[in-house]
Amino acid sequence: MKNICIFASGAGSNAKAIIDYFKDTPHVRVSLIITNNPAANVLRIAQQEKIVSAIVSNRFLHEQQTILKVLSEQKCDLIVLAGFMKQVPDYLVKEYKGRMINIHPSLLPKYGGKGMFGKRVHEAVLNAGESKTGITIHYVNEEYDKGEIILQKETDILPGESVDSVSGKVQALEHYWLPRVAENLLQTTLH
Ligand code: GRF
Repeated sequence: MKNICIFASGAGSNAKAIIDYFKDTPHVRVSLIITNNPAANVLRIAQQEKIVSAIVSNRFLHEQQTILKVLSEQKCDLIVLAGFMKQVPDYLVKEYKGRMINIHPSLLPKYGGKGMFGKRVHEAVLNAGESKTGITIHYVNEEYDKGEIILQKETDILPGESVDSVSGKVQALEHYWLPRVAENLLQTTLH
């Protein structure tokens, strides 16, 4: 059995996509959801899906021994950051090097870095007059949005598109590709 741990701060639609994708897979499951936001919808998803969850304050995230213990108790093979709005501490990056991935809603290195999240990303893309955008799934390293890229997928931006329509197209790509990249990593490099 391979276990995925998801870190998320918001709606949790990517977390849900991963949970659903592996529902009928006997050898992979989401064993833990960690959030830094007590109001995050992802906690409701965890409850509905009967997945162990933990609310970890930004300060508590630095409690190295406790956090690593929780992750190892849930036998975490892969950490997926899915809208986690806090930089992950270095000790965690080191411990899970090559076993921690992030998803970003643009074609990095464009429109990444601090402050670039949610609709802001799509607004910036539209304001710049881009004709395409997309998603990036990458390993996490010590620098925000700068780890080695695993996969990018593009979508065209049509004339007159709104932030909402771009956001919908990008989200569809995220929900399709994130579970598949996780599965591929678990089957290949992390077996
Ligand atoms: C996604 O767009 C992801 O790319 C970004 O944060 C968003 C999370 O959305 N890092 P959700 O909480 O999974 O719905």
